[in-house]
Amino acid sequence: MGKMMMSSTIILSIFLFIDLSVICCSEKVVKPTFVCITRERKALLKFRESFWNPFPTLSSWNDTKDCCTWQGIGCDKFTGHVTRLDLGYKSLLHSDNSLQGKMIDPSHSELKHLSYLDLSGINFQLSPIPAFLGSMTQLRHLNLSRTSLSGVVPHDLGNLSSLSVLDLGGYYQLEFDDLMWVSRLSSLEHLNMSYVDVLQRICSSALRTLYLFGNQLSCPFPSWLGNLRDLRELSLGGDNSQLSGRIPLSLGQLSNLEILHLSSSSLDGTLCEAHFAKISKLRILAIDSLKFIVGFDWVPHFQLEDLEMQSCDIESHFPLQKELVRLYLMNCSISGALPNWFHYMNLTELQLSQNHIQGPIPNNISRMLPNLEVLLLDENYITGSLPDSLCKLKFLIALDLSKNQLSCNVLDCWGNFQQL
Ligand SMILES: *[C@@H]1O[C@H](CO)[C@@H](O)[C@H](O)[C@H]1NC(C)=O
Ligand SMILES: *[C@@H]1O[C@H](CO)[C@@H](O)[C@H](O)[C@H]1NC(C)=O
Ligand SMILES: *[C@@H]1O[C@H](CO)[C@@H](O)[C@H](O)[C@H]1NC(C)=O
Ligand SMILES: *[C@@H]1O[C@H](CO)[C@@H](O)[C@H](O)[C@H]1NC(C)=O
Ligand SMILES: *[C@@H]1O[C@H](CO)[C@@H](O)[C@H](O)[C@H]1NC(C)=O
Ligand SMILES: *[C@@H]1O[C@H](CO)[C@@H](O)[C@H](O)[C@H]1NC(C)=O
Ligand SMILES: *[C@@H]1O[C@H](CO)[C@@H](O)[C@H](O)[C@H]1NC(C)=O
Repeated sequence: MGKMMMSSTIILSIFLFIDLSVICCSEKVVKPTFVCITRERKALLKFRESFWNPFPTLSSWNDTKDCCTWQGIGCDKFTGHVTRLDLGYKSLLHSDNSLQGKMIDPSHSELKHLSYLDLSGINFQLSPIPAFLGSMTQLRHLNLSRTSLSGVVPHDLGNLSSLSVLDLGGYYQLEFDDLMWVSRLSSLEHLNMSYVDVLQRICSSALRTLYLFGNQLSCPFPSWLGNLRDLRELSLGGDNSQLSGRIPLSLGQLSNLEILHLSSSSLDGTLCEAHFAKISKLRILAIDSLKFIVGFDWVPHFQLEDLEMQSCDIESHFPLQKELVRLYLMNCSISGALPNWFHYMNLTELQLSQNHIQGPIPNNISRMLPNLEVLLLDENYITGSLPDSLCKLKFLIALDLSKNQLSCNVLDCWGNFQQL
């Protein structure tokens, strides 16, 4: 009997022991952990191996350390999954060599919890964009700019329904056979395809920024633009652009537009009042090689801070913009004396290079534009001597009056312009 009791105590204590250890184990699992998941660490090490020159840039990627502490890696602090892989040009700026190697491929499918992937600036030696990227459905930010990828962009990218930022800028080798997949990116807010060969329409109503600058657009000016009602920033055109046809009046429907950058030498380009019909938030307008024709009584609904026009034909005038801070009108056939309406604005930068401005620089320039930092009047027909009042422009850091017909005089204050 005594024997039996003893053994049952022993059994009981064994049970107790086991029980305790079970509690310990389950506690370990529930506890938040920062230690990265083995499968994901292995996938990352495999990715490191695909680079020709992983060192010194990736020397923190060492199997003996928690991969969540490696450079460019971020983990979810509750699940431990790798959610961030940032080897982008910006974050590796301090390392001397740019990485060269193979693009992420299906063998990295363990990295499916990534929400932020920036591989910008890595030289992937003209490998194609793998369709498998389209299965990383957690992705919100994908930056593949300047990565020397090539080939047709897989439509599978359109499966990334959480994607809000897509940067494919800076490619010369990428091809798009159609862009309908972009319209499936229902969360997209920022799209950069500058310097990419883009031909088709993009219709994602959430889109806020659209950069197609430098594209070899050889198509009529996209008339669907007016559908992108949320667009804040639009940049279209560029040197090699073959945009053709009229600028559609639907541009004027972009009521949220804040920044507009239009340029093309082949556009049959005239901007008139209707192109700005519902545009009321515009702050920055930069146009190149376009005609600008509006009535003298036109009152725009917006107040610009920045106006930049180059090689433009301003047949009428540009209405007064009291908030204007930077005014660049280069090669715009402006003739006559230096306009005296400047003093209605508080300009810090004024450039009127390559025009036909005649007559002297007004003596009261420092009273008209007391906050001027940049004054560029080169390549005009300005005559007379330099007014002393230039000396009173106490914020001036850049002055260019070259290629004019000024008489030579040296201002007393020349020595004051230390940064000139
Ligand atoms: C990882 O770190 C250990 C010790 O810190 C070092 O001996 C080893 O060479 C490193 N491995 C790599 C691949 O850098
Ligand atoms: C993508 O990366 C490049 C280079 O690091 C950077 O300049 C650019 O701003 C990034 N794009 C976005 C949308 O963050
Ligand atoms: C993307 O979605 C399509 C249609 O649902 C599917 O056929 C394709 O396999 C998906 N691609 C990837 C890489 O998951
Ligand atoms: C778009 O991509 C081009 C080319 O890489 C780059 O120069 C530009 O800064 C990018 N724009 C933005 C806003 O990220
Ligand atoms: C100046 O503008 C005209 C068109 O108005 C253009 O033909 C010419 O090439 C431009 N000059 C420069 C130097 O950009
Ligand atoms: C004019 O601009 C300067 C510098 O940008 C600023 O400090 C000043 O407050 C502005 N003045 C007015 C009247 O807006
Ligand atoms: C500057 O002088 C011109 C004429 O010389 C005059 O029309 C203008 O009102 C003056 N502006 C200021 C701000 O004094």
